[in-house]
Amino acid sequence: MSSATERREAMLEKLADLDAQHAVAVAGGGQKYVDRHHARGKLTARERIELLLDPGSAFLELSPLAGWGSDFAVGASVVTGIGVVEGVECLVTANDPTVKGGASNPWTVKKVFRASQIAEENNLPTVSLVESGGADLPTQKEIFIPGGKLFRDLTRASARRQPTIALVFGNSTAGGAYVPGMSDYTVFVRGGAKVFLGGPPLVKMATGEESDDESLGGAEMHARVSGLADYLAEDEHDAIRIGRRIVARLNRRRRGAQADLRPLDARHAGVPATTGGSQFGFAEPDADPDGLLDLIPTDLKEPFDPREVIVRIVDGTSERNARPFDEFKPLYGTSLVTGWAELHGRPIGILANAQGVLFSEEAQKATQFIQLANQSHTPLLFLHNTTGYMVGKEYEQGGIIKHGAQMINAVSNSTVPHLSVIMGASYGAGNYGMNGRAYDPRFLFTWPSAKSAVMGPAQLAGVLSIVARAAAEAKGQAYDEEGDAGMRAMVEQMVEEQSLPYALSGMLYDDGVIDPRDTRTVLAICLSVIENAPIKGAEGYGVFRT
Ligand code: COA
Repeated sequence: MSSATERREAMLEKLADLDAQHAVAVAGGGQKYVDRHHARGKLTARERIELLLDPGSAFLELSPLAGWGSDFAVGASVVTGIGVVEGVECLVTANDPTVKGGASNPWTVKKVFRASQIAEENNLPTVSLVESGGADLPTQKEIFIPGGKLFRDLTRASARRQPTIALVFGNSTAGGAYVPGMSDYTVFVRGGAKVFLGGPPLVKMATGEESDDESLGGAEMHARVSGLADYLAEDEHDAIRIGRRIVARLNRRRRGAQADLRPLDARHAGVPATTGGSQFGFAEPDADPDGLLDLIPTDLKEPFDPREVIVRIVDGTSERNARPFDEFKPLYGTSLVTGWAELHGRPIGILANAQGVLFSEEAQKATQFIQLANQSHTPLLFLHNTTGYMVGKEYEQGGIIKHGAQMINAVSNSTVPHLSVIMGASYGAGNYGMNGRAYDPRFLFTWPSAKSAVMGPAQLAGVLSIVARAAAEAKGQAYDEEGDAGMRAMVEQMVEEQSLPYALSGMLYDDGVIDPRDTRTVLAICLSVIENAPIKGAEGYGVFRT
């Protein structure tokens, strides 16, 4: 068993590394390109976002490590996230012009698709801060066809009455011209915005016409002549000011059902809390969130008690909240902890792995619990640390597939919002049952201690070895034992690397890797964001095989 000190040291080391990875993303194209950009009198993507958001409000950045481990810059030349503009939660995207002129590569496209999915599911207005060289030309074949969805999504958002606002600071050419083209509101910066289907060289090639940037796509022209610009901004600050005024006039209403289900005075007037607390009348956690650093074993085979995590994430005891966590079925299926809590005054149901393995009892308990949450329109939080469903004759005969299928049925057809946090292991079908990425949780965040793959690296290498040995025997060939050891070591290392959080985050399999101590704040933002859309339990499920 690793000690608390060893666990803390290991986690702090991983967090220092995480800071370094985030610093790479924040640096964008590097100092040379940032300096050049500033020298042109322009703001960087992050400076634009900071000015757009309400002073002092939080920005939940999404997928900051997109593209990690690929040939492209970490962050994928775009910043995406959720922030508050004039009191309205908005999805913000900002091209990073310091990285390859803000050109979109395959990871940029995936990251923007994920952002637009979040806007759709949570009914958020979108503000696009545009300055992009369009498609990354060397990889155009991977982005041109799928990339068309970007413009389709913008107009479908508008059809759903999710406002779309484009603030155009620089280049927005060719296909990119359809970002303002498809947006509900457009603001163009004088002398900066350049929006045309084809620039002067292309026009010359196509028709022989001589032209210049301003007459083809300048802000002044679009504001006075073409009508593509709704507002002409004097400079970047002015564009952001106008963008904020547009949001202020959207007349947005949060449609989350929770407000209907709980008396307003309890939610918002604020029943006083005994400790800490806020205007909503909730108390800070009973145990210090800093203790989360002491919890995760250095070897994920060692179990840890997720109640120790829960008590550091959810609201603490207060006059209104008699216990921080009301556990459901505590004596049954004890490898999965289920129960009810509040987070920043908002009700949640929690499913958290305890001993790692999911047996039939755990699967059935989860199935019932998920249905209960849907009956009461309560959002769910999944805390992953699972090696998957139990294998072996006894368990197969006991119906582990049927029971796992029941859990997966409940998770898949549940319609209350789901949040997932991968704390430790998330292997095999356990990842599915616990609402992994493919099961569309509204948000999924990962701790630096997480590992996720079809199975553990050693198990996977071992299975490959058994299969290869059997194949050799079937052909009557001698098995190469020395080669086998080398193969196992190589496969183990490869799967280990592929299972790590940066690799998974790089591929957009989560919405970001977070410091465990930030979990409560991140989840609180997510719970607030989901209230922009109606919260309603499932009307039906697939057939539950019994
Ligand atoms: N694909 C791939 N790389 C691109 C790119 C694109 N669409 N646009 C710019 N880049 C690269 C440049 O090659 C340069 O790389 P380097 O620094 O390694 O030499 C880097 O991004 C910066 O470009 P640069 O031209 O120096 O920056 P700028 O700020 O002066 O101008 C643009 C930016 C976007 C206006 C200009 O690069 C441009 O016109 N690009 C082509 C736009 C286009 O026609 N896109 C096709 C749309 S479908």
